[in-house]
This record gives sequence, structure tokens and C-alpha cells, in this order.
Amino acid sequence: MFDHDVLIIGAGLAGMRAALSARENGVDVAVVSKVHPVRSHSNAAQGGINAALQDRGDDWRDHAYDTIKGSDYLGDQDAIEIMCREAGEEVITMENFGVIFNRDEEGRLGTRAFGGQRQARTFFVADFTGQALLHVLYEQIMRAGVRVYEEWFILSLIVEDGRCAGAVLMEIRSGDIHVVRAKAVIMAAGGIGRVFEPSTNALICTGDGMSLAYQAGAELMDMEMVQYHPTTLQGSGVLITEGARGEGAYLLNSEGERFMERYAPNAKDLASRDVVSRAMTIEINEQRGCGQNADHVMLHLEHIDANTLRKRLPGISETAKIFAGVDLTKEPIPVLPTVHYNMGGIPTNYRTEVLQPTADKPKNVCEGLMAVGEAACVSVHGANRLGTNSLIDLVVFGKTASITAKEKVKSNSPNIAMSGKATDEILDRFDKIRHQKGDLKTGEVRTVMQHIMQKKCGVFRTQELIKSGIEEFDKAENSMENINIQDKSLIFNTDLTEALELYNLTAQSKVTLHSALNRKESRGAHAREDYNERDDENWLVHSLVWLTKKGEVKLGDRPVHMNTLTNHVQSIPPKKRVY
Ligand code: FUM
Repeated sequence: MFDHDVLIIGAGLAGMRAALSARENGVDVAVVSKVHPVRSHSNAAQGGINAALQDRGDDWRDHAYDTIKGSDYLGDQDAIEIMCREAGEEVITMENFGVIFNRDEEGRLGTRAFGGQRQARTFFVADFTGQALLHVLYEQIMRAGVRVYEEWFILSLIVEDGRCAGAVLMEIRSGDIHVVRAKAVIMAAGGIGRVFEPSTNALICTGDGMSLAYQAGAELMDMEMVQYHPTTLQGSGVLITEGARGEGAYLLNSEGERFMERYAPNAKDLASRDVVSRAMTIEINEQRGCGQNADHVMLHLEHIDANTLRKRLPGISETAKIFAGVDLTKEPIPVLPTVHYNMGGIPTNYRTEVLQPTADKPKNVCEGLMAVGEAACVSVHGANRLGTNSLIDLVVFGKTASITAKEKVKSNSPNIAMSGKATDEILDRFDKIRHQKGDLKTGEVRTVMQHIMQKKCGVFRTQELIKSGIEEFDKAENSMENINIQDKSLIFNTDLTEALELYNLTAQSKVTLHSALNRKESRGAHAREDYNERDDENWLVHSLVWLTKKGEVKLGDRPVHMNTLTNHVQSIPPKKRVY
């Protein structure tokens, strides 16, 4: 058993930013992660991090406006205010920590344009910004002496008398089970991108944090809001940064037409992601796709100066060569939309405290629990996230979580006593999964589920499609009982960890399907062909989903925060969204 004041689950940018800030404020903090911290998925963020700096002629209120419009008015405006107001200071802090951002001709921090924004306000490190930030933050937490339990897999949160009191974890290297008690827990375990296949997400993005919070009784919010990134390599789903279009790349269909001019006459290729992904899908569906199967469109960068490509987009230059055999200085890249990000997650307020469940949930389960990053839904992205607002969300609310945690934790106060009942239940479940004997492999069931999600819950959805997806999903879920864990050992048993991850993926697939069926309108990334307009009268609400004690999925809603926090900024009423 280990005791800490604050336990952070996940060592991506949000988790490490929270840990560093907590430690600098004298808090006894520890981080657990199922991978070494620099292998966290924040590593994969390419194009940059958003902030409006006053001395660049930008204003955080404009950033807030673009974010609210981008969210299709589902974002909470109080949280968006905080993120945009604090973004500039966080980017400068990151630079001071040692991130070597690209610079402009005058030697100042340089910016590039990103979709859905009226200003070029994306600060970047070539096309590996996430990696640069992650490595610098890791150096910083090491310097600060933060305790990291790495390659520990979370099995469950511990909830005692309505308080989150720690977690039960498995040390992957040995299979040993550990209890870590804490007075506050910050969930920063990332997203659920691997619910789909293909996906731009790392294999580790299996929604572990969201599933465990959900199993512990927390609600999840806006789970139908799944972002498709417009430009990923056809065939592999590998990300080609939106920064390419920020540097001047454009999309053509098989007729050689710059089709985005029809869908977004002003912003064109730099419209928001949901708009571009839908446009590409329509072009493909209407037989204007490229290639033998007319199943992709082309992204052109050949007109961009080779020196710019080398300096600012070296990662995608290499990726295009390796995965598609394309020299992007000479020929276009075949691209199509692929799942990239979930806007939904564990609902929190702007202080990162997990909201107490609403309907049918008399019990307080979230005291002492905070959530940040992609695992959380604070909600600054609403129905559609703007590119590079993710990294700024991670660091701003990572730091906020540490401040909230410090307020909650009284140093030298005892940790909550544990009854042992909760840990017994967790171990029973763990043993049951470990000793399962069937005739299916984990990967077989996972592939079936991922393909259901891909086909039935894609860029465009209908009631019929989602309903048939739920029927197929239920069968796949039942087949989980029939999974065989072949490796019975405990040392680095990836057969076992993959099965545990599959249980988490399953829970997330289910809530995504049910939430998508429930929202009868089109908003942001959720495009229903049978309800193709946004319906503010009935659906300007966050959707909620939770699990009953009997294991049933229940649905509800919660108002969107249309209010701002201070009179420095006006709230923005919904209007027609055009780019
Ligand atoms: O296209 C990109 O570089 C992705 C950035 C993001 O999702 O924020």
C-alpha cells in the first residue's frame, strides 16, 4: 500500500503539468501511468498549441469566440473563457521550461494558421509539438522529484463513503497488485480513440480512465461527439497535420476541383474539422473520390517551398514517404478522414472537479475526484474541437487541477480508511478475467467491435444505422465471455492487459452508440442524416450517460453553460455557423 496526498492517473501533458505544479506548491503528489511518460499519446500531437498573444495583435476574446463557434455552441463558455485567458501565459511558461518553439523572421515565437480560426495563433515545434512539450515536461517533473509509478495498469478507482480515495493498480512488470491511497485523485488517462479502427490514436488510447470513473458511478458527457481528422493517410490512418493546410496545402477531388470552396467559401481548406471531414466524405460518397476505388481525396503540398517543408513539416514528409511512398515535394498525398479525438468525457466544472451525478443518482461518488485532458469534458470543445486547442486544454487545466487539489488536501490529515470490500470486488473481477477460458482471442473481439463502430457511428449517422450497430455490438459484447486468456503468467502479461483494455473499450463503444442514437439533431461532429439541422430549442444541452447498478445504460442531459465568468467577455448566443 502506498499513500500520497494527490494521485494523478496518466502521464501525458495534462497529468505531468498537474504533477509539476502540485509539486512546486509543496503537495505530496505521485503519477501512475501504464506506459513510460514520454510514450503517452500527447506525443502524437503534431501541429501546435493555441494561444492569443496580445503583442501579436491577437486577443484571447477572439480565441474564445472562435472556440465557441467551433464547438457549435455546445462548449461551456465559462470554461472556454478560462482556457483562452490563461493560454498565453501557459505557452510562455512552456517556453521558459525549455520548449524550443519555431520562430519568425524577427526572432519572435512564430505562429501558423489552423482551421476555424480567424488568426494564425498556433505556436509550434515543426510538426512534433506534442513530443517536444512532453519531453520537456518529463524533464521538469524529474527535476522536481515527482514520484512516477510507470507501467502500472489501473484496475479500479476506490470509492469509500462517496469519496474517491485512491486506486487499485497492477504493476505490469511483475503482475503485483498495489493499492495507492490518496486524498485527491486527478484522472488524466486520455481518450478512447481505439474504439474505432482505423484511428490516429496510439494503441494505448483505450479509455481506461473514463471507463473506471463510469464504473465507479460517474456520468459521462457528450460521448456522441467524436472528431474525425480530415487528413490522415489513406490505408493506414496515420495523421497528416492540419498544419500542412496552415502552411498552404489544399485538397482536390478526382475532377481536380478545390471542392472546399463550395462548402466553406471563406475559410476553404481551413474550415473547422467537422466541416472539412463531412465535405470530403460527401465528395467520396458522390463518386468524386480519387484512386482506383474512388475512396480518398488528394492533399497537395508540391507548390510549397521545399525549405519550408523541410523546416516546418519534416515529420509528415517522412510519414508520407514511409507509409504511402509519396515524395510530397513532387506529388500529392492520398488522404481521408479518420477518428482522432473525443470531445466527450468525464464532466467537470472549470476547476476540474468531477460533477456529481444528476438524475437517478442519490449517491455522491465524485468527491475528491478531478479529471483533465481528453478523459475529461470540462467542456471547452463542445461538439467540435478546434485543432491545437487540445494541447492548450491539457496544460491550462492540468495546472488548474493541481490548484484545486491543493485546496482539497490538508497536509498531515490521515488517508481515508478502507473497508476492503471494494478491493475484494476488484480482485474477484480481475481473477475472473485472468482465468477466462473460451475460444476467442481478445484481438478478434476487438476488431469486430471497432469495425461496428467505424461502419455504424461514422462521419454521417442515421437512426437505422446506429440501431443496427447496437444490435451487432450487443452480440460482440456477449462474446467477451468467450475470450481465452492464453498466457496465465503474471510477468508482463500483455494478453491480460489487452483483455482488460478491451473491457474498457467495450464500455466506451456502448456509451458512444447510445449517446449517438439519443441526440436527434446535427451539431458539430455529430451529423445525423435523419435530423440534418441543429436544433437549439431541444438539443442545446450536454448529453449524459451513466450505468445503473444492474448494468443498464441510462441517458439524460445537463444545461450548457452559456454564461461567462467575468465581465471581460460577453457570452455568445448561438447563430448559424458558416465558414
Ligand atoms: O493536425 C494536427 O496537427 C492535430 C492537432 C490537434 O489535434 O490538435
